[in-house]
Amino acid sequence: MNLRIVEIQKDSRIMEEVPEPYCEIFGEEPWNEELEPKEVIETMREQLERPGAIALAALKDKKVVGFIWMYEIFKNDLREGTRYSPKLRFLFENQKRVFYLQEIGVIKEMRQQGIGERLTRELLRREKENGADVVVLSTNGKAGSMILLISKIGFQNSGIVRPPEELGRTYWILELMD
Ligand SMILES: CC(C)(COP(=O)(O)OP(=O)(O)OC[C@H]1O[C@@H](n2cnc3c(N)ncnc32)[C@H](O)[C@@H]1OP(=O)(O)O)[C@@H](O)C(=O)NCCC(=O)NCCS
Repeated sequence: MNLRIVEIQKDSRIMEEVPEPYCEIFGEEPWNEELEPKEVIETMREQLERPGAIALAALKDKKVVGFIWMYEIFKNDLREGTRYSPKLRFLFENQKRVFYLQEIGVIKEMRQQGIGERLTRELLRREKENGADVVVLSTNGKAGSMILLISKIGFQNSGIVRPPEELGRTYWILELMD
């Protein structure tokens, strides 16, 4: 398969192309998000400004068929009413550097061909080089493929519920080993 994994530079052509697959992917069950491409690009810009942010795209014949990004979080990001629950405080013990895997998606037609796994492993490798010790993400128990993918990679379900509770999301955690 002619597939390339590339870094998404801020405000590049590739970044401008992410909202289309993003809206398609997160419009599906269990997410059912109704997003406008403009909102997606704005949120992406904000998130890619954060310390340690790296975003990758999977390109097939120059078309974006998958994406992933993460960034570092800090103890003072942990606040009620945000996606970073104060219950995650224990992750920072022993001066650990904690990164948040914010988004991952692969378009429907290209799933189950190893693209999500390639994107994840490549990003974990790069962020480990950046000093990441622990990676955390939140996902919905109904996102079956995501659960299978992150379990294969070694993430563990912490059982800690991400507020608001009715969305059924828990945090999954991966310690990056040497
Ligand atoms: C989660 C997602 C990114 C996975 O991408 P993908 O490219 O299809 O995943 P891969 O082909 O790399 O799968 C890697 C491993 O995950 C597991 N897996 C993923 N999807 C699976 C499925 N539908 N059935 C069985 N196993 C699956 C398998 O263990 C697979 O490894 P294997 O092929 O050696 O068995 C994709 O399903 C997706 O975009 N889903 C919608 C968006 C989403 O839910 N994002 C997460 C938000 S928190």
